[in-house]
Amino acid sequence: MLKKISFFIFLLISSFTLLFSAEMGKYKYSDFSKPKKCGMCHRQIYQEWKESMMAKSFTHSWDDVEYFKLALPHALKFSKVAGVKGGCIACHSPIAFLSGDIPPKSPNAKTRANEGVSCEVCHNITGTSKKTPYNFSYTIKPGDVKQGPRKVSDAPHEVHYSPFLKTPEFCATCHDEASPYGAWVKSTYREWKNGPYAKEGTTCQDCHMYKGPGMVANGKFRKDMYHHVFHGAHFRNKLRGAVDVGLYVNRKKVYAGRTLKIRAELFNGKVGHYIPSGSTEERMLWLEVWAIDSSGHKFSIPVKKKGFKGEKYTIANSKVYAYQAMGKILNIKGFKGLKRDGDLPDGARIFRKPFLDPDGNMTICQWYTAKNTVVDYRIGPRETKVEEYVWKIPENIKSGVVKIEASLYYSLVPSSVGKFLKLPKSEYTPMLVNRSEVKVKVLK
Ligand code: HEC
Ligand code: HEC
Ligand code: HEC
Ligand code: HEC
Ligand code: HEC
Repeated sequence: MLKKISFFIFLLISSFTLLFSAEMGKYKYSDFSKPKKCGMCHRQIYQEWKESMMAKSFTHSWDDVEYFKLALPHALKFSKVAGVKGGCIACHSPIAFLSGDIPPKSPNAKTRANEGVSCEVCHNITGTSKKTPYNFSYTIKPGDVKQGPRKVSDAPHEVHYSPFLKTPEFCATCHDEASPYGAWVKSTYREWKNGPYAKEGTTCQDCHMYKGPGMVANGKFRKDMYHHVFHGAHFRNKLRGAVDVGLYVNRKKVYAGRTLKIRAELFNGKVGHYIPSGSTEERMLWLEVWAIDSSGHKFSIPVKKKGFKGEKYTIANSKVYAYQAMGKILNIKGFKGLKRDGDLPDGARIFRKPFLDPDGNMTICQWYTAKNTVVDYRIGPRETKVEEYVWKIPENIKSGVVKIEASLYYSLVPSSVGKFLKLPKSEYTPMLVNRSEVKVKVLK
């Protein structure tokens, strides 16, 4: 028994130190070159990286707001989450963390924290301290030696061939995360690992750093260069068509007043993990089904309930409020929360995994997540979700051709949260993932 308890205490302490003190302050900014310097020779890779979210992981507005307005003030007043003061930065601006610049100055101060996940971060990472990595458990060694994916000898700096750089475990050091409450709040790597792509040997790099022709360094062309685009949910082109939408009806001619059965099939054939993944606490993926009659009148069709545990979180309901924790953090008296599902039409199916704070309210604060295993209704890799609809056709509909339209949308944060925190509109504008339509003839 005593042994068990002391082992438990050991686990607690070791996970605590891992979470919050990895190698904070062990180095200084000047130990790391600026990305521009690498870009002098690696011009194309620099351009790609500069446009990616990696280069913006500290500066882009939502990260700026969430860290400085929510997480940091929360960490300063509530000891349970105190570790995120440095923890957020260990993934979003590793060189600031490693230099002990905690908390960093805000992005408009233009310090080196703004470099985000830079060339020097990834190409100095030597391995991980964990067998199954998460929570910035990378080991790093700055200096003249760059970790590279090939055995090259004609670089003007030293290159160490690193098989680790080519593995999904490398990405997992930042892409999987446990909250201070022990909830898995990011698990893209673990989702991939349990899915079909890991078994087939298709890696994160294969889909997010595709190989193709490129100028790897000045004057040096490769036909199989690893591109540094890191396209994900922020890039419409990556998102568009990521899930197939099939749409079927049980009859093509139907009388007003009768019912029409509709079936939508959603197949995730392109995403190597769940969609949504990553910042699952705030991503919205939902299916709207509408009927449009010949005069252009629109009728929203609610999804048929399936009756699984936690289903209420997966059906849009404009009367439900959530995100109350933000009121606590921002000291807003009498804050009732915000509309859980933003501006979604009632009855839309939402493919989500709700995160709950210690009070049991849904939250977008991943560091303040006590539990997120109530239900997982996202679409897994190569999974098909089937949604059914039973639509009683209104008597007052205009007879003739009626178009049934199923649209799958994605937004980075719920619109209610985006408006409340005054984020740029692009953060919560719905992006169309896919759309399908069928036509039926309504008779009277
Ligand atoms: C003076 C030009 C120059 C500068 C500056 C430079 N590199 Fe290189 N680097 C090269 C050349 C040339 C190669 C060899 C490319 C090849 O053969 O694929 C190379 C190779 C590499 C490789 C290994 C490529 C492979 O295929 O395995 C990595 C990683 C790398 N550089 C990272 C960096 C980083 C990070 C910086 C900035 C700290 C940097 N380089 C600065 C010229 C430069
Ligand atoms: C998020 C991590 C990450 C960042 C940031 C990053 N790289 Fe890389 N880089 C990689 C990985 C991973 C590979 C190897 C991909 C593979 O093997 O599938 C790679 C490959 C390379 C290569 C070799 C390309 C080839 O085809 O031989 C060079 C050169 C390079 N990176 C330079 C840079 C420079 C310069 C920057 C900054 C402008 C940068 N990298 C930023 C992770 C990163
Ligand atoms: C040092 C930490 C770190 C490592 C290592 C890392 N990432 Fe990331 N990555 C981040 C952070 C932080 C963001 C979030 C940027 C943002 O939106 O603020 C991110 C974002 C992304 C995105 C999302 C882009 C979007 O549009 O939503 C993709 C895709 C991605 N990374 C892929 C990878 C892959 C593939 C690897 C491994 C080759 C990798 N990352 C390694 C920290 C890391
Ligand atoms: C078979 C291809 C494939 C593989 C393998 C893959 N991804 Fe993705 N990933 C995608 C596609 C397509 C998207 C865009 C749709 C989306 O956002 O889910 C995406 C999106 C993402 C996002 C943004 C998720 C969101 O909703 O914000 C991140 C982060 C990411 N990938 C990281 C990774 C990491 C890390 C790995 C490896 C553990 C990986 N991916 C493996 C195809 C892949
Ligand atoms: C273990 C590494 C890690 C830690 C710790 C971490 N993040 Fe992240 N964060 C990421 C990665 C990786 C992504 C990208 C996931 C995706 O694209 O869906 C991300 C995404 C985000 C996003 C969404 C960005 C967007 O453009 O949509 C915000 C905001 C954010 N993080 C803020 C924070 C804050 C605040 C903290 C501290 C409480 C924190 N992060 C802690 C790795 C981390």
